[in-house]
Amino acid sequence: MTISYTIKHYDSIDSTNLEARRLIGQNCGHGTVVTAESQTDGKGRLGRAWNSARGAGLWFSVVLEPRIPVHQVSLYSFAAAVSVAEGIQLSTGLSSQVKWPNDVLLKGRKVCGILLELVAERNQPVRVIIGIGINANQQMEDFPEDVQHKAVSLAMETGKSVDRQQVLDAVLDRLAFYSAELEQNGFAAIRETWTALSCVSGKAVQIVQQGKPVLYGTALGLDDDGALLVQIEHGTERITAGDVSLRAADGGYAV
Ligand code: BTN
Repeated sequence: MTISYTIKHYDSIDSTNLEARRLIGQNCGHGTVVTAESQTDGKGRLGRAWNSARGAGLWFSVVLEPRIPVHQVSLYSFAAAVSVAEGIQLSTGLSSQVKWPNDVLLKGRKVCGILLELVAERNQPVRVIIGIGINANQQMEDFPEDVQHKAVSLAMETGKSVDRQQVLDAVLDRLAFYSAELEQNGFAAIRETWTALSCVSGKAVQIVQQGKPVLYGTALGLDDDGALLVQIEHGTERITAGDVSLRAADGGYAV
């Protein structure tokens, strides 16, 4: 149930996920964690950039050797999302929600994003990189203008600066627990925890792929592979890619 973590801390790095990939090239072990004060080329999902202000956020990547079949490794991202939500609760007292596939929100605004990557190098075990970006001590003006309406930090919600080390320790502790849960007992309990934390289940949603809305319906929950099931007029669609946004009171779609 425990992972013996080895932390490698950098003042500045292009991206902790890229550094994790380089360390995998040098055969780094299960539980290697790369953290950085700032990233010059932070990576988001779907090829987006991830704004990584110096010293304000918690930017880190965890390398694991998956102990589940390779076709199921995306399930680690749900284990990571619930670990972040619980780690935030334990270290700051804040209650967060999760949004498919693996965003963590505070009152509808994004406080954390997760980027999962699979690395299969010749003659080496498959590894998964779980890249986690938590907005910790930013103030609104620290975010780029175009994301200010949808981003939040832990400090903005608690009203005081948070101890990033405490948040990191709590998240890594929960991640050790939930990755062991996934490996030993499968996805069921994580799916249940994720669903209880989800802000989309039972809600009217829009699915956006490559910047365009492709489907409207009601989010039902996750299937065994972590796909989002969406009720549409004549059946159920299984969503495996893209972003979800929730219908707001004005009929538009938010975050
Ligand atoms: C998203 O688009 O929501 C995922 C963002 C993931 C950002 C984190 S910050 C630490 C790690 N290193 C990166 O370059 N990206 C991830």
